[in-house]
Amino acid sequence: MCGIMGYVGKREAPEVLVDGLKRLEYRGYDSAGVVVQNGHGLHSEKTVGRIAALESRLKLHPLRGRSGLGHTRWATHGGVTEANAHPHFSCDGKIAVVHNGIIENYAELRAGLGGHTFRSKTDTEVLPHLIEELLERSGGELLRAVSLALRKIHGSVAMAVMSSDAPGLLIAARMNCPLVIGLGSGETLLASDTAALLPHTRRIVALQENEIAELDPTGCQVFDFALNPRTREPEEVRWTADPALRGNYAHFMLKEIHEQKATLAAEMQARLDDLGGVQVPSSVRRIVVAGCGSAWNAGIVGKSVIEEQAGIPVEVGFSSELRYGGHPFGPDVLTIAISQSGETADTLAAARLAQSRGSRVLALTNAKGSTLAREADQVLLMRAGPEMGVAATKTYTSQVLSLVLLGLEIARRRGTIDARSHRALLREARVLPFHARRILARSPEIAACARKYSAGYSFMYLGRHLNLATAYEGALKLKEISYLHAEGYGAGEMKHGPLALVTDRMVCVAIAPTSRVTGKLISNIQEVRARGARVISIATEGDADLEPVSDEIIRIPDCPEIFAPVLAAIPVQLFAYHAAVRLGRDIDRPRNLAKSVTVE
Ligand code: AGP
Repeated sequence: MCGIMGYVGKREAPEVLVDGLKRLEYRGYDSAGVVVQNGHGLHSEKTVGRIAALESRLKLHPLRGRSGLGHTRWATHGGVTEANAHPHFSCDGKIAVVHNGIIENYAELRAGLGGHTFRSKTDTEVLPHLIEELLERSGGELLRAVSLALRKIHGSVAMAVMSSDAPGLLIAARMNCPLVIGLGSGETLLASDTAALLPHTRRIVALQENEIAELDPTGCQVFDFALNPRTREPEEVRWTADPALRGNYAHFMLKEIHEQKATLAAEMQARLDDLGGVQVPSSVRRIVVAGCGSAWNAGIVGKSVIEEQAGIPVEVGFSSELRYGGHPFGPDVLTIAISQSGETADTLAAARLAQSRGSRVLALTNAKGSTLAREADQVLLMRAGPEMGVAATKTYTSQVLSLVLLGLEIARRRGTIDARSHRALLREARVLPFHARRILARSPEIAACARKYSAGYSFMYLGRHLNLATAYEGALKLKEISYLHAEGYGAGEMKHGPLALVTDRMVCVAIAPTSRVTGKLISNIQEVRARGARVISIATEGDADLEPVSDEIIRIPDCPEIFAPVLAAIPVQLFAYHAAVRLGRDIDRPRNLAKSVTVE
């Protein structure tokens, strides 16, 4: 998942491109490059490392030009080298391409371009050579050559192209990867997501599937791949996503963790407003939940609540598995597709598969204009606001809260919960933001705990029932930002194998808010303690039962069992954050990861 940026207009392109790449850096940050055009052909600089490295290079070797392309990379094909960084060029150096996605048939295409010299190990480089090859057949028209090339490609592509023979023109195209265009005054921009365009314009055209566009300073013209014109009205975007808004927080992740006292209230209100309109026909016999990473973990909570409260069987599948499995989607299946970015390739594919088999898709997403939001039959729009940290935090608790409220709503409609109990639970949910505030105030105490255990231990997060998901999520957070080895596991499952891992170098984080399974969980904790493990328990205020079996206790306020996974997620987020800070990790840009996974 790379980030693409493009500019054509009256300003110097390099500054605009670099600023845009900084806003797209969460998509991939192992190498970067820009190319600009001025009256003397195409000129480019590429570097390995973060955008800051490219910026220093451009200080030493400044580029000038009023149109250009930029790219920040997350390597899929070919190692992290300057040669593999984008842009990539045709043999004659006249055509430059930046690309996000994977070209599955690149080897075959490359084999068909015998006379061409390839300079990189990437799949992407086949694009400029293919376009160069097809330009002749297109009467030298860049748009036509690109559209011909696209018809030969299999895979996922968001790309932008420029040619020294077509000054002041950019070509943009999308096939299974997001790309948006920004219409400014006397300038036009393109980017992998809207946030990178907002400093320049709020008039946005999101390219749809299999569309190509020609951009010049006056605007853009959109076509399908057969070059039939498409009329597209720009959307006026009202939200802001300015990275500068990190405020006094050291990292976006910490800021976003602390925002949960507000985002949970906003999520609650949004669901009170729109859940009544969600259609779950009585013909729905089963529910399938599709998601990846933290979205999948949130789905696990949704499964427990919907099954228990509404009595509908729920299967939660990894989108990457669902899209190839023989799952019996059908008209009697409601598919809930969870994706904060709304652009995760596997979840999009699972949702499309479900729809192709007659299942209606309900999307739970944080991105209004995203592909998932546009393609789903129904949408529950989360109110977490833009999340800049790669690790999902506020979006996770928003997803969990929305899924719990959805489960209760379905149960109310199906009469498996009475209106009075339903109202009582909604009243309790309204208090969650205040509970969150109290947990957030314990950040220093959690930091001390994290510092104590962030070296020399591996971690096992243990949970049962509704908080099995919290164990998974806690382990995921610690892995992805501190790089410490951690597993989330059903506490009752430990004695069936993983107990063999337990020594005095193991920390077990027990997710143990007061519930009908606390007693069982305490027996499981005793099993690991007997083997020397250190135990950190997440427990309810006033619940003394965990004290005898815990080395550390992090308290959360009392709340109905059904909402505990919302609150219990916050201490595990803070623990992971502080452990990673202690280890000097790059919190917002953890190695090898990216915020939105737009390739398979
Ligand atoms: C979680 O912290 C990760 N960033 C990752 O697992 C993420 O949850 C996953 O890639 C799904 O993203 P989505 O919600 O945007 O689809």
